[in-house]
Amino acid sequence: MKIQDKIKKEYINKPFLDHKRAVLSAPIRHIFMISTVGLLRKSKSSKIRILEIGSWFGASTLSWAQGLEEYYNSFGEINCVDAWKPFFEKENHKDEEYVSEMEQLLEDDTVFNIFLHNISTIKSSIKINYFRQMSSKFFRNQNNKGYDIIFIDADHTYEAVTQDIKNSLDLVLEGGIICGDDLNLQIKEVDIDHAKKNHNKDFIQDPKTGKNFHPGVTLAVSEIFGDVNSWGGFWAVQKVNNSWKNISLREIPKIYPKHFNNEQLSKAKDHYRDIEEKII
Ligand SMILES: C[S@@+](CC[C@H](N)C(=O)[O-])C[C@H]1O[C@@H](n2cnc3c(N)ncnc32)[C@H](O)[C@@H]1O
Repeated sequence: MKIQDKIKKEYINKPFLDHKRAVLSAPIRHIFMISTVGLLRKSKSSKIRILEIGSWFGASTLSWAQGLEEYYNSFGEINCVDAWKPFFEKENHKDEEYVSEMEQLLEDDTVFNIFLHNISTIKSSIKINYFRQMSSKFFRNQNNKGYDIIFIDADHTYEAVTQDIKNSLDLVLEGGIICGDDLNLQIKEVDIDHAKKNHNKDFIQDPKTGKNFHPGVTLAVSEIFGDVNSWGGFWAVQKVNNSWKNISLREIPKIYPKHFNNEQLSKAKDHYRDIEEKII
């Protein structure tokens, strides 16, 4: 059965994330996205606005929405920016199976249609706007500065992440947060020369640690912010007196994403148990 037909029949008013590429990064990060909303609630009680750069199936959009449900009585605004069209440089990612699978899903609008379905399940008191365009175009036309959270999770190559972060700096309100996905390794951990040589690749192995990481995210984040706190690869910094400070999510209650299926949930739980002691 085609995915769209399956969704129409079996996922009425329920999010669809039962696909191996639905949640692209470590599920644990969604716990900390919800916690980030919880952190903001301590200093701001009026409605907040979130900007998400890169939405894919909408798993992260659903997590932000859950944060708003939990901490803002189901009120707030989420703006999603995604071109929902193939974006990888083919030349640099020739042998990557996940890349060709992602490109195929984007090419025939499967991802966009699933995103539309998934956001349709979010409570109507939470306003969702979406912008189907390249992030560079969105930022060019953006003069509304008032975002409380900007989440960067689109193209992970160096130039793209750098531009997305730099374009976001002025759009965040005082006390607001810039965060992002996929900071698997920090600059101090990796072979920097190797990372620089591969800055336009999405995901590679670091020869120093033997671990896989996104060189573009590691380089861009460190150049702009230095060392940042991160939680299973989700990173965040807060604007305080016009500069960027690390935050702690340790004291914020742990809330699991309710839209996850059993497999995603158990991955999140196992991973949380592994890092619990070290949560900043
Ligand atoms: C890693 S996925 C986002 C995953 C999503 N945040 C989540 O956690 O469920 C990256 C998304 O960014 C989009 N994208 C990549 N480059 C982009 C660009 N330059 N402008 C807008 N969207 C882009 C892709 O279409 C893809 O859907």
